[in-house]
Amino acid sequence: MRSSTLTWASSLCLLSALTPLISPVVAVKENDFKKCDQSGFCKRNRAYADNAHANGALWTSPYNILPESASLKDGQFQAVILKTINKQGETVRLPITVSFTEAGVARVTVDEERRQNKDIELRHNSAARKERYNEAEQLVIVGGLTLDKTAKAVGDDSSTSTTVQYGPDGQFEAYIQYSPFSVEFKRDGATEIKFNDRGLLNMEHWRPKVEAPAAKEGEEAPAPPAEESTWWDETFGGNTDTKPRGPESVGLDISFVGYDHVYGIPSHAGPLSLKETRGGDGSYTEPYRMYNLDVFEYILDSPMTLYGSIPFMQAHRQDSTVGVFWLNAAETWVDITKEKIRSNPMALGAGAETDTKTHWISESGLLDVFVFLGPTTQDVLKKYSELTGYTAMPQESAIGYHQCRWNYVSDDDVKDVDRKMDKFGIPYDVIWLDIEYTDGKKYFTWDADKFVDPSGMGERLDEHGRKLVVIIDPHIKNTDNYEVVSQLKSKEFGIKNKDGGLFDGWCWPGSSHWIDAFNPKAVDWWKTLFKYDTFKGTAENTFIWNDMNEPSVFNGPETTMPKDNLHHGGWEHRDVHNLNGMTFHNATHLALMSRKSGELRRPFVLTRSFFAGSQRLGAMWTGDNQASWDHLAASIPMLLSQGIAGFPFAGADVGGFFGNPDKELQTRWFQAGAFYPFFRGHAHIDARRREPYLAGEPYTTIITSALRLRYSLLPAYYTAFHQAHVSGEPIIKPLYYTHPNAEGGFAIDDQFFIGDTGLLAKPVLTEGQTTIDMFIPDHEVYYDYFDYSVVPTQAGKRTHMPAPLDTIPLLMRGGHIFPRRDQPRRSSQLMKYDDYTLVVAVPRTGGRAEGSLYVDDGDSYDYEQGQFIHQAFVLDGDTIKSTRASGSGEPPKKAGAWLKAMADVHVDKIVVVGAPTSWAGQTEVTVTSEGQTWTAPLDYTPASGGRAAFAVVRHVNARVGSDWQVTVA
Ligand code: NOJ
Repeated sequence: MRSSTLTWASSLCLLSALTPLISPVVAVKENDFKKCDQSGFCKRNRAYADNAHANGALWTSPYNILPESASLKDGQFQAVILKTINKQGETVRLPITVSFTEAGVARVTVDEERRQNKDIELRHNSAARKERYNEAEQLVIVGGLTLDKTAKAVGDDSSTSTTVQYGPDGQFEAYIQYSPFSVEFKRDGATEIKFNDRGLLNMEHWRPKVEAPAAKEGEEAPAPPAEESTWWDETFGGNTDTKPRGPESVGLDISFVGYDHVYGIPSHAGPLSLKETRGGDGSYTEPYRMYNLDVFEYILDSPMTLYGSIPFMQAHRQDSTVGVFWLNAAETWVDITKEKIRSNPMALGAGAETDTKTHWISESGLLDVFVFLGPTTQDVLKKYSELTGYTAMPQESAIGYHQCRWNYVSDDDVKDVDRKMDKFGIPYDVIWLDIEYTDGKKYFTWDADKFVDPSGMGERLDEHGRKLVVIIDPHIKNTDNYEVVSQLKSKEFGIKNKDGGLFDGWCWPGSSHWIDAFNPKAVDWWKTLFKYDTFKGTAENTFIWNDMNEPSVFNGPETTMPKDNLHHGGWEHRDVHNLNGMTFHNATHLALMSRKSGELRRPFVLTRSFFAGSQRLGAMWTGDNQASWDHLAASIPMLLSQGIAGFPFAGADVGGFFGNPDKELQTRWFQAGAFYPFFRGHAHIDARRREPYLAGEPYTTIITSALRLRYSLLPAYYTAFHQAHVSGEPIIKPLYYTHPNAEGGFAIDDQFFIGDTGLLAKPVLTEGQTTIDMFIPDHEVYYDYFDYSVVPTQAGKRTHMPAPLDTIPLLMRGGHIFPRRDQPRRSSQLMKYDDYTLVVAVPRTGGRAEGSLYVDDGDSYDYEQGQFIHQAFVLDGDTIKSTRASGSGEPPKKAGAWLKAMADVHVDKIVVVGAPTSWAGQTEVTVTSEGQTWTAPLDYTPASGGRAAFAVVRHVNARVGSDWQVTVA
C-alpha cells in the first residue's frame, strides 16, 4: 500500500508521520514484523516445548483431570482440569467441556475458573474485561452445534479415563485420559488425532503481579527473570503493549497420526502443503503466524502472517482426511514438524508412516478446538462449513472480470475506460474506484471537482449491465465539518484506547478514528451511511470494497492497532484482533442489504482482512502483491489454500499491484486470473496504466481470449459457486481434494480442477516458458480443451504439452459434462438470457458422463423460494438426459419474472468430445422434451491424428429449465 511518490498524501502532517514507512520499498521489511522470539508468549511456548522435548520421558504435563469432577451427559463431557502451578503443589482450576455434535464433530473447550483473589482483581487497572475472551463463537459459528445426545461412554475404567463413542454409526471415539490430561480421537478404532500427546498444553493462568523489590539506593532495580520479562508489558519497534491481565496464552500440541501432509491455515505466501517450521532442509525456522497485518509487498515462501487468518487445518494421507479448527481470534502461531515413525499400525496407505505434529499457540482467550475425523476432505469441509457458514451466493456479475486501479481519476476517466473496453471488444463487469474518489479521504463523499456527476457515471455503466465498486475503509478522518466523524464521536462508536478515550491513529486521511464494528449499535449506525439518499451518487449498481481492515494503522505497532485498545464490551484488541476485519466486512455487508427498504439484493463486498466465517460475506483478495513472475506463481497455492479453508471466493491482483508487468507477464497473468474465483486487475497509483487494450498486439487479443474463456465458462463457475454455497466445496480444487488416492498429487499446487467440470488447468507461471508438464492423477482420458486432441497420459505421471503464449493449458477429463455460453458479449449481464452449450467429455471406456448447471437471477434472494434452475446432465451410451437435479425440490408454483424469462432460454448446442464411432454416419438426433419430439442436426467428425472424434448437435432447442432427452440414432 505504500507509494514511492507522494501524490496521494494529502497533508504534510501525514507525510512526517509516515516518513519511515514510505521510502521506496522493494519488499516488505521483515524486521518490521515480529518473529516468534520477539513475541513474548510465542517465545515462552516454544521454550516450553523445547524443555518438554529435552526432558523426554521425564517430562510430565502438569494438567490432570479431577476424576470426581468428570461426567458425560447429553453429548457433553464435563470436568475440571487441575493445573499444578508450583512445587508446593498449588493448582488452578480449568473447566473443560468436550462436546459431541450430531454431525460427528468433537469440540474441546477449556476455560479458566474465576478466582476470588483480591490480588488478581486489583491488578486490573484498566477498563478491560476480567475473563478470557469467550465471544468468538457468537461471531463465527452459525450452526452445527446440536449435541449428539446418543454419544456414550464405552469401556469401564472411569477413574482414570473416559472413552466416548460418537458420530455416525458410533464410528468415532474420544479417549480422554485424566492424568496427565490428553485426548485421542479415533476413527474405526485407529487413532487419527492426539491432543497433549507431547505434553505441550499450556494455559498461562492469571496471577497477581508481584512488584519487583525497590532498587536499593545507588543500584539499579533487578531485572525480572527472562521468562517473566514480557508478562506485564512488552515493547516492539518503539511501541509498548501494556498487559493489564498479564500472561494468559494458550498452547496445545495436536498430532496427526499417520499423516504426511497438512494444509490450510491461510493466508500465507507459501506452498499448499505446509512446511515444517523448526529448521532443517527446506523447512522454515519460524512458526506459521496468524495475526492479520498490512504486510504489503510480502515475501514469498514464508510463514509470515498476511492480511487474514483462518485457523483451520486439514491433514491428509491416501484415502483419509481429518482436520482441526482452532477457534481463537488472538495472535496465533503454529509450529509444524514431521516424524517418520509408523505409530499407527492400523493406518494404511501412502503417507501413513509419518506423523505430523503441530503446536498451536495463541496469546489469549479460551482453548477451543473442533475436531473433524473425515474420512474424506469433503466431509471435513462440509462440517467445518456447517459450523462457520457457507460461501454466499455472489452477485453474478461479481464472478465476471473487475477492472480496477488506484485510481481512475474522474468520472470521465471511468467512462473512457468503459468505452475503450467496448471498443476493443473486451468483456468486463465491474469498474472500481480506489481512495482518490473521495473528498480528502473522507469516505461517503466525492471529490466534486473530479467526480462531477457520479450518478450519471453509474447510469452510463448500467446501460451495459455494468457495476461500480467504491472503496470504504474503516478509518474515519478526524477533521472538522465531517458528519461521519462527528457522529462516530458523539455516539461513541469508535474503538477506544487503553484509557477509555477515543483511539486516534494514522491512516490514509491522516489522524483517524476506527469504527468498532463489534458494537451492534455501531453496525446499525454504519448501515444508515449507505442509504442511497445518504451516500449520494451511489445506486443499485454500486458495491463496496473494504480495505485496510486488519486494521492497518500506519503509526501503530506492526502497522496495526495497539493490543491494549478496547472494544465494545471491554474486550482488549489483543483478544479480538483477527476478528476485527470480519466484523467490519459484516457491517458493510449488512449495510448493503438495507440500503433501501424492501430491496432484497445480494451485496458484493470485497475484504482484505478476514477470519473463519468471512466466506458468508463476500470475496477476499491476497493484497499487495508485485508485478513479478514469482508473485504470479504464488497466487495459485494461496488461492487453493483459501478454497480448502472454506473461503473460496478469492483472487489476487492480476498484473501485480506494485510495479509494471512486462507484456508477457501481464498476458500470462490474465490467463491465470481467468480461473481465479475472484478475477480483478489492479495496480498501484505509481504503476503505469495497463488496461488490457493498452497492451497492444498480439497481447490485447490474447488477453481478450482469456477473458472470453472466463466469460464462456461463467455458467460452470456459477454452478461451482452454488456447490460451494451448499456443500462448502472449493471453486478451484487441488489434486489432493479431487484425487485423494493419487499420492503424487498431494503436494501439487500449480494446477487445479474447476468445480466438478473435469476441467484441469495449469496456467503458465514462468517467463519465456512455452511448454508445460501437467500431472495426470488418474487413468481417465484427458482431451485438450481447445483442439480436442487426446493428451497422451499415464496415471501418476506428467504429460508434456505445448504452451506458447497464446495457449492456456486446459484439459477436459473424460466423464464430465459442463455448461458454457458461447456468444461473446460485453458483460455477464448482457449474457443473462443467452442460450447454453453443453460440452460432454466421453470417458475412456465410453459410457457415462455427468455434470450439472445451476442458474438463478444472480442478484436477489428469490432462489431461496425456488426461483432457480438446477439440472443434472447424464450421457449414457447414446442418450444425453437433462433432469431436475436431485435435492432441488419441486419447481415453484409461480415463476417469477426471471424464471419466466428463462422459458425462452435453451440448450442450443451440445458438443460431444470423444464421440463413439458408432455415431459416424448419423446426421440427426431425436430430442424429446415436455411431451414433444423433434430432430436436430448432428455433425460427426472422426478421430484424426491425435484428435478425438467429436460430434456437434446444433439447434437442440430444448428449454434449459425443462427435462429433456437427446438420443443419437
Ligand atoms: C491498500 C490495498 O491493498 C490496495 O489494493 C489499495 O489500492 C490501496 N490500499 C489504496 O487504497
